[in-house]
Amino acid sequence: MRMTTDRATAQAAEPIAGIEVKPAAGHIGAEITGVDLAADLDDAVIAAIRAAVLRWKVVFFREQHLDHAGHIAFARRFGTPVVLPRRGKASPLGFPEVETTADRLELGGRFGMDHEEWLHRRRHTLLRGWHCDHGARIDPPAATILRADTVPPYGGDTTWSNLAAAYAGLSAPLREFVSTLRAEHRLGVGYQPRPGDDAYVRHLLDHQIATHHPLVRVHPETGERILYVNGYYVDHITGLSRAESQALLDLLVDQAVRPEYTVRFRWEPGSVAFWDNRATIHLAPSDTAHLDHPRIMHRVMLAGDVPVGVDGKPSKALVGSEPGVW
Ligand SMILES: [Fe+2]
Repeated sequence: MRMTTDRATAQAAEPIAGIEVKPAAGHIGAEITGVDLAADLDDAVIAAIRAAVLRWKVVFFREQHLDHAGHIAFARRFGTPVVLPRRGKASPLGFPEVETTADRLELGGRFGMDHEEWLHRRRHTLLRGWHCDHGARIDPPAATILRADTVPPYGGDTTWSNLAAAYAGLSAPLREFVSTLRAEHRLGVGYQPRPGDDAYVRHLLDHQIATHHPLVRVHPETGERILYVNGYYVDHITGLSRAESQALLDLLVDQAVRPEYTVRFRWEPGSVAFWDNRATIHLAPSDTAHLDHPRIMHRVMLAGDVPVGVDGKPSKALVGSEPGVW
């Protein structure tokens, strides 16, 4: 994905090759109409979608008819799909780029918990669910393209937040200060273990992933400064005392998810969301477990770069990941 913000803004204003980009909120999100993602799309259409993703951070399409092959083919127009070595068991054979989430009991069930316990042990505060995909890796995916297959008639919305707007909204002295800092991102931060032998803790120890990322990263395509925090992977800010780190992180994550920087999307079968995973965090829904209705989603992610800070220095892997190796 390579395109400047200026061009993105210009393109968002007028239809290109029949597609229309309609902003959905003040700082983030746009719905794109007039395009069939299963078709063999012109380069001009792909460029317009790219520009909209960079400008609006997440774009939405409705009533699409992608199958797995079409989903992967669409993703390939924008980058290299990630092939995960381990996927949820609902994921389709023969399409290693597609990860399917279907059974809400699957993850907790693997570790001897029902879904509710799993959720509560992982997501015990309001902010814990906010994440970018695979954010503890040295090279988190550049983008995620998620398509809804089967969804409940209500509930299950996803919310995204614009981390460039959140950074810009800080005061100048704080912007300058946080731009000098780095933070440790780690898989499993904040998980509340079960008493005794916890299978998930063992799993975390066997699959540790941790990286020092800049607290403010420079977006590799737009050049924007991104407040690179989330509620899920960030353990502490390095070089500060534990208390200083916690107070500052609380402030920054609160800032990152202020309602004015967010957009919320209601899924229908055939909906597709395409987001810049470098410039956003998102909150998966937790309001559907009691609805007793299947929710089947298919995800393709695009490989991403190693983040770079304002000082020009890249992130440093601590354990468990290396660039381009999944
Ligand atoms: Fe996610």
